[in-house]
Parts: sequence; C-alpha cells; structure tokens
Amino acid sequence: MIPKTILPGATIGILGGGQLGRMTAMEGKRMGYDIICLDPNPASPCGQVADEQIVADLNDLKAAISMAEKVDVLIYEFENINVQLVETLAKQYYLPQKSRILAITQNRLAEKQQLQKNGFSVVPFRLVSNASELKCGVAELGYPCVLKTVYGGYDGKGQQVLTSDQQLKSIYEMLQSGNQKLVLEKYISFAAEISVIVARKETGEMVTYPVAENIHRENILHLTIVPARISPEIQVAATQIAKQIAAAFQITGLLAVEFFVTDQGLLVNELAPRPHNSGHYTWDACYVSQFEQLIRTVCNLPFGATELLTPVVMVNILGADLPQILKKIPNFQKNTKIHLYGKRNNQDAKRKMGHLIIKTDQPEQIIKEYSKKPELTHDLCL
Ligand SMILES: Nc1ncnc2c1ncn2[C@@H]1O[C@H](COP(=O)(O)OP(=O)(O)O)[C@@H](O)[C@H]1O
Ligand SMILES: [Mg+2]
Repeated sequence: MIPKTILPGATIGILGGGQLGRMTAMEGKRMGYDIICLDPNPASPCGQVADEQIVADLNDLKAAISMAEKVDVLIYEFENINVQLVETLAKQYYLPQKSRILAITQNRLAEKQQLQKNGFSVVPFRLVSNASELKCGVAELGYPCVLKTVYGGYDGKGQQVLTSDQQLKSIYEMLQSGNQKLVLEKYISFAAEISVIVARKETGEMVTYPVAENIHRENILHLTIVPARISPEIQVAATQIAKQIAAAFQITGLLAVEFFVTDQGLLVNELAPRPHNSGHYTWDACYVSQFEQLIRTVCNLPFGATELLTPVVMVNILGADLPQILKKIPNFQKNTKIHLYGKRNNQDAKRKMGHLIIKTDQPEQIIKEYSKKPELTHDLCL
C-alpha cells in the first residue's frame, strides 16, 4: 500500500489514553491535528488534552470502530492492547503501525525467539512451564536469575529475582495451580543499560535518536542520561542494531530497543513499538520529539531533526516521589522543567506520575541529588 500523506487539519485516533498518548496528542495539537482517544478512564491523561475521548474498554471493538470512523489515521500508544482488535481495525482503517509487532512484543518469549532467529544477541533464557523445567533452567543458568511472566509485565511488574532454592517452592506451586508460563533469564551484571529509539516509515526510511543511558530503581526506570556515558563505538553499535531490528520487524512508527552493555558486548533486553519513557528527554532536548516523530512517521511527513540540542537528565516521578517533588518546585533551578501527566489517583507508589527534565552537563550531581528517594513499598512477587 502506498503510504497516505495526512496533513494537519486531519484527525488522529489514539488507542489508549495514558501519558504516552497525552504527549503525542499535545504535539499533534501543536501541529494542527485533531485528536480523539479511546480509554476506559474518563479522566485519562490523553483524554484531558484531546478534542474528544471515547470512554470504553480497550477490548471494545464497537467503540474502537466508532473512533476509527471519525479519524484519518489510527495509532496505539502502548503494547498491551488486544492484537485481534488491532488486526481487525487495520484491515478496514488506516493503522500503519499494524498488529504484528504487538503480537511479538506482548509475549516475552516470542520477542526473544524472534530476535534470536534474526541473529540478534539476547539474554540467555529458558521457557519454564512446569517444576522440572524450572529446576533445569536454574541449574543451567545459575543463581541469581530472573523469572518473568511471558505476558503482561511492565515497569518491573511480573518479575522476581531468584537467588536460592528456597524461593522455588512457591513458584512450583504457582506453576502447578495455573497455566502461567514464565521465562527464566540469566541475571546480567551489566556495565550500563542503554536504549535507542528508531523511527521508521513504511518505505524503510529511518532516523534514530541519541543513545540514552538508563538507571532503574527497583526495576522501574528512574533516570535517563543523555549523552550516555559509554564509548562512541558502543553507541554506534547500539544504533546500528536498533535500526537492523526495526528493519527486520518492518516497523512503521517508533521502536525503542533496550540493551544491557556487558563485557561480552551488547545484549538486547526488550523492545517497545511506541514512544518510550527513556525518550521523554527528546521533548525538551531535541528539535523534534519522539512524539512528533511518531506523528510525522504515520502521517508520512518528512522526518524531523533528532540530534541532541543540550545534555540532559530525565528524572521519573512516581507516586511515592510526587509529594517531595511538589515541595521542591518553588526552589527549582532554571534548568529544570516539570512534566506531570494529570493522573488523578496517586495512591500507587509505583505509578508514573510525571518526570523532570534537567538541562545539565553534570549528570553525576543530579544522580546524587535524586538517589535519596523514598523507598517504594515494593514486592517483586509475580
Ligand atoms: N536478566 C536481567 N539481568 C539483570 N537485570 C535485569 C534483567 N532483567 C531485567 N532486569 C532489570 O529490570 C528492568 C526491567 O526489566 P525489563 O525486562 O526491561 O521489563 P519491563 O521494563 O517490561 O518491566 C531492566 O531494565 C533491568 O534493570
Ligand atoms: Mg524494560
């Protein structure tokens, strides 16, 4: 199919109403598009800035079709969305991101297998669906290792680090009781975590954003530092691999590729076919943000410039952090900007409420300042 050029004045429909949709909608509005989103939460972050929100479950095909009828192009803003529904919509309406990459990225096992099949290095892993597979997997990969649910994991949810046989009993029981499938991964003592965001058009044209260095706190992204403090060779290699993956999976839209930097080279950790938390810095520190780039890509407009305009650190604000951050605002330095997503309920300590963007060439200071954060009452249980 020849990609359609969709000019401002047209309407973009967003499946999902979270912060990624919100920031995409804000950029879209600035460019002159109308925005409709679909989300069950009537006060969704995206709905607050969109022209219209259809309040319905994301599995509601009728509701999705009613949105599709009103828009010129459909996009999704997160990957845990019903693949069947996206496939059905893509047959009748213009949904250039398509459903195939969703089916892969929703399933940790399929994602790793597909990456391996295409020649990319991933963290050593085993599928675990019963007690004996778990026992064998642990024997082969050794402690510590990381157990992850095949479906539905995000922001560290659905993960558990295993360090001893004592932990296995409860997992055996869980495996026996349900049809939960798990992936067991070797624990990687990485030198750094990095990510690369690629934008790709149906024609195969691509642009990439600068490599981001990511520091996690209890498995949730905490800080992103750009430029990443790693060698130029590793940055070039990561960018190359990210482009090769986007090409291999025929991405239209955005693809974020998360890597572990190890002594043995780069290992791909995870993929996300949408704007990524580690790319929020692009809003303030690049000429064209990841959100605008997504719109340009699906609307078939020319790519915008992606180079870094200023060194930057992004600090995620979780529910547990918000009270302290709000107290700090009157004393913010002029290099600090706040983004809040308009989430009404901040009871969840681990919910992403917003982020700070700090323009600085001294990331160490920011890392120090924001490392003393409240402990998240956290339980890494599956
Ligand atoms: N095998 C592993 N070895 C070491 N750290 C890991 C491993 N898997 C995950 N982590 C840590 O947990 C974070 C979140 O894991 P990830 O697999 O990216 O899941 P998600 O981002 O979907 O929650 C990673 O960015 C990393 O910091
Ligand atoms: Mg991840």
